[in-house]
Amino acid sequence: MVSQSDIELAAKFIKEGKVVAFPTETVYGLGADALNPMAVAKIFEIKKRPSFDPLIVHISDINYIKKLTKNNDDRVYKLAERFWPGPLTIVITKSEIVPDIVTSGLPTVGIRMPDNKIALELITKSETAIAAPSANLFGRVSPTTAQHVKKQLKGVDFILDGGKTKVGIESTIITLNEEGFEILRYGLITKEEIKKVIPICTENKSKKNILAPGMLKSHYSPSKPLFILTKNVFDKIDRAKAGLLSFTGKDIEGYKIVIELTKNQDLKEYAVNLFESMHKLEESDVEYIVAEPVPEIGVGLAIMDRLKKASHKK
Ligand code: TXA
Ligand code: MG
Repeated sequence: MVSQSDIELAAKFIKEGKVVAFPTETVYGLGADALNPMAVAKIFEIKKRPSFDPLIVHISDINYIKKLTKNNDDRVYKLAERFWPGPLTIVITKSEIVPDIVTSGLPTVGIRMPDNKIALELITKSETAIAAPSANLFGRVSPTTAQHVKKQLKGVDFILDGGKTKVGIESTIITLNEEGFEILRYGLITKEEIKKVIPICTENKSKKNILAPGMLKSHYSPSKPLFILTKNVFDKIDRAKAGLLSFTGKDIEGYKIVIELTKNQDLKEYAVNLFESMHKLEESDVEYIVAEPVPEIGVGLAIMDRLKKASHKK
């Protein structure tokens, strides 16, 4: 577990332009000083991330909104009040001090305040904002433990081990427009919850202008093929060679490995365990992974988004 001196050392590293992996409530992040372009460049190098994929900036103090953005929209503060610290990223027009490498040249920056004590202390002690993508190799399964980070990434200066993350999938990303908001990536915080703060949710207004995460069709992929259990897949698979990610706990006989991600078809519980279960099957001796689909409601939308991207072109 993490001590105060660990956090202080990690913060010192951030100040020196080094790269630190740290837990958030969603997944582990690979962080560097968001205002230091050379430090941010190391993130792209370690992750093998293409430079066109922008990073989320993490803050621990709401006053950083003024520093990092040209925001003059009160709705941002309403959202922050309701959802921060928490798994909601808001895309806002950036100020000059945010280096282009962070936003991949976009005029906007994605910002969130993570709901994790270690993360918040690290950011505060670093006296800056921390740019951090998920701490996995580009396109691969996101890390929900420090071990997952170690397994994939070489060259990280320090890893803060805060145990397993409590949400398990990445933040919901939204952008605001004149009418309301638009979801760029589904996460734990649902459209319905956001609508209680901003009543109108629009679709496809901004997708053509910005590079949204959804544009990358293949993502979150384990090193083994992953299939969503459709009728077609059901008929073809050899269960003796397959690992099953089970939602209902039904029809689980014959698989080489079965992981029941939830006891009572609880979508939040499933989300918490999703990436960890993919890591387990990736490390096991199954030949491929079969995922039972979940209902596309609430967090189920975020789960199916991850499963569809993990199974793309397989
Ligand atoms: O929960 C999370 O959001 C985690 C933790 C570490 O905070 N972070 C995370 O980062 O998932 P990453 O880099 O794996 O995914 C961030 C996504 C990227 O796919 C990127 O396209 C999108 O956010 N993004 C970042 N800035 C953006 C912007 N200005 N406009 C549109 N999309 C943006
Ligand atoms: Mg990621």
